[in-house]
Amino acid sequence: MNAVVLTETGPPEVLRPGTAPDPSAGPGEVVVALRAAALNRRDVFVRKGVAPSPLPVIPGSDGAGVVHRTGAGVPGVAPGDEVIVLPSLGWGDREDAPAPGFRILGGPDDGTYAELVRLPAANVLPKPGRLSWEAAAAIPLAGLTAYRALVTRAGVRPGETVLLLGIGGGVATIALHIARAAGCRVIVTSSSPEKLDRARELGAAAGVLYTEEGWPEAVREASGGGVDVVLDSVGSTWADSIACVRPGGRVVVFGGTGGGRVGLTVRPVTMGQVSLLGTTMGSPRDFASLLRLVEHTAWEPVIDSVRPLAEVAAAHAREEAGEHFGKLVLSIG
Ligand SMILES: NC(=O)c1ccc[n+]([C@@H]2O[C@H](COP(=O)([O-])OP(=O)(O)OC[C@H]3O[C@@H](n4cnc5c(N)ncnc54)[C@H](OP(=O)(O)O)[C@@H]3O)[C@@H](O)[C@H]2O)c1
Repeated sequence: MNAVVLTETGPPEVLRPGTAPDPSAGPGEVVVALRAAALNRRDVFVRKGVAPSPLPVIPGSDGAGVVHRTGAGVPGVAPGDEVIVLPSLGWGDREDAPAPGFRILGGPDDGTYAELVRLPAANVLPKPGRLSWEAAAAIPLAGLTAYRALVTRAGVRPGETVLLLGIGGGVATIALHIARAAGCRVIVTSSSPEKLDRARELGAAAGVLYTEEGWPEAVREASGGGVDVVLDSVGSTWADSIACVRPGGRVVVFGGTGGGRVGLTVRPVTMGQVSLLGTTMGSPRDFASLLRLVEHTAWEPVIDSVRPLAEVAAAHAREEAGEHFGKLVLSIG
């Protein structure tokens, strides 16, 4: 099959179109013929060796396609089924946290930058009928993360105000749709006035440039004294996020785009009764709930651009530079 196999870490150019052996479906597994895949910041981290994975590996956590082969013992899945990929592998039985064997598709397990991907049968779900292949492929990792952060962890309620940091990102753009669908008012930050404008067109009530000194004060003003919930995937901004919430607010953290270490002052958290909630990806139940939401609402993931799989290096360069707004999609086949 055609595939992008990562054999060394480095700049985007290490992602070279090539070939790999066709995967086969063992017991309890399926092989999906992918029609589209999509990028996540994690793919950049895998490519650079920041999220270490044994090499060689086929990166990619997002995908949608058609079931190509089934192994023994996979009732309910048949060749020809149109499916979307759940990238949480080995989550386990608990809803509050994944099991020790939890992995994310696309390193160490071969992922979706390929014509075929092997998956446990439980990791394919019916593709939402109203979505194109590209839109469906844009949803899995970012949608699952945003859904769990907002709904399962923060428990957002209608009428609450949610702050999304860095609205250009794939998770942030999908979180905007999910928060709006939950009846929340949304405030966003970005490095770019154009991205703030685009967020307003998608339903954001206000936007603040995080490149300007004192931006948390602007968020507090825009929210009448502090937001109810912040989604922070930046890491280096934890203290700012805590400064943005009202007393008793929730800060959900799930990433370190701006750095993996934080310095915090204890008092604003304790006196402010702030809940600091960590999260990662999501459970199969979170994913099924997300897909039900997709079926019963009208939003589509924001797609920055669609390129053929062979041009994945250009997509990585764009994502790493932060030039994108929404998801970078790869068409396959
Ligand atoms: N733990 C998990 O399960 C999980 C799951 C998904 C993602 N993540 C993490 O979440 C982060 C976002 O992922 P993604 O795939 O959505 O990435 P992405 O599409 O590459 O988006 C990154 C965005 O971060 C924003 N940003 C960068 N520095 C910032 C800063 N100092 N303040 C505010 N925003 C800043 C930029 O927004 P603007 O362009 O608007 O300036 C940029 O577009 C990554 O760190 C990723 O590893 C974790």
